[in-house]
Amino acid sequence: MCGIVGCTGNHEALPTLLKGLEKLEYRGYDSAGVYVNGGDAGDFLVRQQGRVALLEEATKGKGITGTAGIAHTRWATHGGVSVENAHPHCSEDGRFYLVHNGVIENYDELRDTYLQGVTLHSETDTEIAVQLIDKFAKEDELSTLDAFRKMISLLDNNSAYGFLLMDRQTPDLLYTAKKKSPLLIGISDDGNVVTSDAAAMLDVTQYFIELMDGEVAVISKTNVALYNETGDSVSREPFYLDIDASETDKGVYPYYMLKEVDEQAIVARTLSQYYFDDNGQVINIDQSIIDRIKQADRLYIVAAGTSYHAGLVGKRYFEQWTGKPTEVHISSEFAYDQPLLSKKPFFIFLSQSGETADSREVLDNVVKQGYPSLTMANVLNSTLTREADFALPLLAGPEIAVASTKAYTAQVIVEAILAHAIGDSGLDLKHELAKVAVEMQVITDQKDQFKVIAEDALHDRHSAFYIGRGLDAAVAVESALKLKEISYVQTEGFAAGELKHGTISLIEDGTPVFALLTQSKTAGLVRGEISQVAARGANTIVIASQSLAKPGDAYLLPDVNELLMPLLAVIPTQLIAYYATLDRGLDVDRPRNLAKSVTVQ
Ligand code: F6R
Repeated sequence: MCGIVGCTGNHEALPTLLKGLEKLEYRGYDSAGVYVNGGDAGDFLVRQQGRVALLEEATKGKGITGTAGIAHTRWATHGGVSVENAHPHCSEDGRFYLVHNGVIENYDELRDTYLQGVTLHSETDTEIAVQLIDKFAKEDELSTLDAFRKMISLLDNNSAYGFLLMDRQTPDLLYTAKKKSPLLIGISDDGNVVTSDAAAMLDVTQYFIELMDGEVAVISKTNVALYNETGDSVSREPFYLDIDASETDKGVYPYYMLKEVDEQAIVARTLSQYYFDDNGQVINIDQSIIDRIKQADRLYIVAAGTSYHAGLVGKRYFEQWTGKPTEVHISSEFAYDQPLLSKKPFFIFLSQSGETADSREVLDNVVKQGYPSLTMANVLNSTLTREADFALPLLAGPEIAVASTKAYTAQVIVEAILAHAIGDSGLDLKHELAKVAVEMQVITDQKDQFKVIAEDALHDRHSAFYIGRGLDAAVAVESALKLKEISYVQTEGFAAGELKHGTISLIEDGTPVFALLTQSKTAGLVRGEISQVAARGANTIVIASQSLAKPGDAYLLPDVNELLMPLLAVIPTQLIAYYATLDRGLDVDRPRNLAKSVTVQ
């Protein structure tokens, strides 16, 4: 959700903080703010509604100087989008400055119990936290660390937090703590940093110490002191994060989404090389994962949004190749309405970020019930990968655009490889995936065609449909999500055969209906459904595999094994979403109201 950075070192803090915020902006962009401790030069607090670029403008000409500071990009949870609600929040006398990711569930109660008479300047739970620290430091005469820990001890169990605190009386120290919200401490010869996402600080360092739930750290420019929940000191070695800083740059691309759509071919190739030896045998999947899944009588895939849609495709591989019944569930539903489970369930969590709170809630429940679990996530060392029994990396590289693209295809590929490793796909999967990678590149090289399709079909349109049957229906729902989330064209993804049971009444003259047609078993039926909507005035745009194509189809997909066609069919739909959004003059990478990783329930 929100993004946090902080630094303390030998250089001016502001440029590092602003650069970090830019990289984090995809996590939330309702507002942004920065605090730099300038020592004798004073305190600099600048907060701004809107994008980081506006904050940067606002910092100009203010003479901001100082080598330690904290900053934040906000995705509003408690309190509307305003400068007053932007972080950092400051205690009444200007001593403490705090940024926070997450939600303090009992903040009302804390305010009523402890802060009677204190004037609050925002509607946020974070301001309550910083005022509490101030109160405990003053009235109980606690050290900053103890006041910070006392505040944390009052948060109820459901609260989630990543905190980064500064005290003007200890100007070069950062105080940080986390629970259910990621935070990393970056180590460098020139000083130390704190960040909610390593990508934001890769220009400074590739060495990070992971902060664990319940821990608190005090960081100076030369030292990191870690404490566990009971206050005992903890030592932990930094790990090296093997990501090239350039991977998180847009490079020559105007938007991250376009770069990430293009990267799908590379990801597909990498995955097929990483998981298979020369003889096509699956490697790099621990035998213990395979054995454990073989013991299960039913698989439960749990995920949210695009990752859930990747699960709908994966279900086919697990059922067809392993013979195991597989259910796919939306995590926010499963968390509070757990269905009747089989005797020996096995849980598979799919996630780009590995931090999605809805999915974490389910994993928590599953672990408590003693069921085995595996997470497939793109972000290594993320909470979901750590807390499941097993983890498989997606290896898609950093995905920055809010709309997920390459993580989706990587999820589908890793599901296929896992199912193939457990059961028998009857395919030379390594070879088939290599073909997919080549054809992905062919499709992404034809961007102009999708630009034309998007502009012709969607310019001035407020609603659209994606339809398909079987695996194409699974891709249709993902395609619809992609289009609606970034272009704001209200789009429904539909099982084509279901249209006539109600939804067809929405078809008007010119309504764009994109049909996906890659499955031979149902191709004739989908052709019928295309005719039905065309007869009612729809503008039908057919994306068909070459072997099933008919004259007049808008785009022909290269043929690969039918079960792997979702990996190709989704790409035109990502590009149509991209160009429709550009056509509307909207920000492709940062659609309104959204954030990249959703760490609140
Ligand atoms: C849509 C999108 C979201 C995420 C969802 C789950 O493009 O990215 O729907 O898929 O928020 O996030 P992860 O995969 O990080 O668990």
